[in-house]
Amino acid sequence: MEKRIIVAIDGHSSSGKSSMAKQLAKKHAYLYIDSGAMYRAVALYCLRKGWIRASGLDQAALSAGLKDIKISFCSTGGKLPRICLNGDEVENEIRGMEVSGVVSLVSAVPEVRSYLVDIQRSLAKDKGVVMDGRDIGTAVFPEAELKIFLTADASVRAKRRYLELKDKGMDASYEEILHNIEMRDKMDLNRKASPLRKADDAIELDNGQMSPEEQDAWLETRFNEAVYGNNRN
Ligand code: DC
Repeated sequence: MEKRIIVAIDGHSSSGKSSMAKQLAKKHAYLYIDSGAMYRAVALYCLRKGWIRASGLDQAALSAGLKDIKISFCSTGGKLPRICLNGDEVENEIRGMEVSGVVSLVSAVPEVRSYLVDIQRSLAKDKGVVMDGRDIGTAVFPEAELKIFLTADASVRAKRRYLELKDKGMDASYEEILHNIEMRDKMDLNRKASPLRKADDAIELDNGQMSPEEQDAWLETRFNEAVYGNNRN
């Protein structure tokens, strides 16, 4: 039987990690886990509870209330797993600008990170998983067989996100998205707990000028190298 591996895809906000991860998982019948969706779901819970105000996040309330937040993935109709918060699917709600604007505050809290990292590890116990995020190759699965670090210029990423949201019929302005992406880059790179950085053994890809087909071919080569060794391609 073919060896099943863990694929860690990290990189900047909106660099195309989730499209890449979904495509790879589908092709090889692997489980796809969007770790960013888990942080977004916790942020949504905080917003609902009123723990995020102009003055910032009420960290004490969040740390004490973490045990009441159940994050899982529910499969509906055999499609990709969708994020659930305390049993309710919240996939659409977590993608809007309100959650995007506050999620970095939540993901900087060490207790939130260790809570979600435990869930992420348990989801991958049987391997055969593609997980995307910021710290998957560095903190969650330092032993992953394939690590990719994706990047592209902030303006390219903002344009992609803008088109994606418009396509879903969601309200968005390009400037607002660019600002949000730059802010999240800054917070992801500078936070104390598991900041965004490329693992030493990750393969970096700037996909700013790449077509989806070129990226798919590149990825397939990397995957085969990780599963079968370097001689296969
Ligand atoms: O990938 P995304 O934009 O949906 O991620 C949402 C936020 O969660 C983003 O600001 C960074 C944070 N995040 C993180 O800190 N660690 C991860 N493994 C995934 C996401």
